Amino acid sequence: MDQGQGITEDSRDWRVRLDHSRDLGSGFAAPGGEFTRALYEWSFTVEGKILQCLIANRRLVELGAGMSHFGYAMACVCGAKNFVAVEPFYADIQEASVQSFISSVTGQLDRIPYKVVAKDMLDYLIGEPDDLLCVLACGIEDCILPGVDYRKKVETEIARTMQKDSFFISSHSDLFPGDLTDIEISFPRPSNPRISDRLRLHGGREALERCGKKIAPYLNYS
Ligand SMILES: C[S@@+](CC[C@H](N)C(=O)[O-])C[C@H]1O[C@@H](n2cnc3c(N)ncnc32)[C@H](O)[C@@H]1O
Repeated sequence: MDQGQGITEDSRDWRVRLDHSRDLGSGFAAPGGEFTRALYEWSFTVEGKILQCLIANRRLVELGAGMSHFGYAMACVCGAKNFVAVEPFYADIQEASVQSFISSVTGQLDRIPYKVVAKDMLDYLIGEPDDLLCVLACGIEDCILPGVDYRKKVETEIARTMQKDSFFISSHSDLFPGDLTDIEISFPRPSNPRISDRLRLHGGREALERCGKKIAPYLNYS
């Protein structure tokens, strides 16, 4: 710890990354707010089981996955086909975290294929075909994005790349892709029930038809 400044090795590391991301101007390497973790922990609750219906057999892509393995862990628990963590600034830490999680659960959980992609989310989405993915974004608020134009482009790309019968799963994020219906669910954070987490599910007609019955009970949940 630096005397008098409260800077640890870890905090210095994220400040260096944040300065670097500011220089690039393509988004800010703000450290994680544990939003993905909260969603993963919620997936074990009775209400949170809905995530299995949304994620099972999908190609789950997390935009701005941060430093921790919770997106990958949730993808495994919910039976995704595979998982991509898109994270330009902490890809090395994300990779190490997923590897360490995999070692810690060997024999207890079915592994699924995964990739960590050290790319900006817009660049990543532009390279994906139409109608393929299930997209997840946790903590992707306006303050970490470079501007409104950039956000609109990301929203367009999410709407284009997401499978038509899938939901865009958004927790504490300011992204509103296309003309999709959005359903808001608030839940007490399992590890700290005094905090309320905000989840939004954005889906079109096919997604609502496929998961409508499962979603109906949650419409009054918040
Ligand atoms: C508030 S953190 C959320 C991290 C994680 N999802 C969580 O909830 O703990 C936002 C993440 O988005 C990443 N990020 C910032 N700009 C980005 C961009 N243009 N493309 C992809 N990720 C970006 C940051 O590096 C950071 O890891």
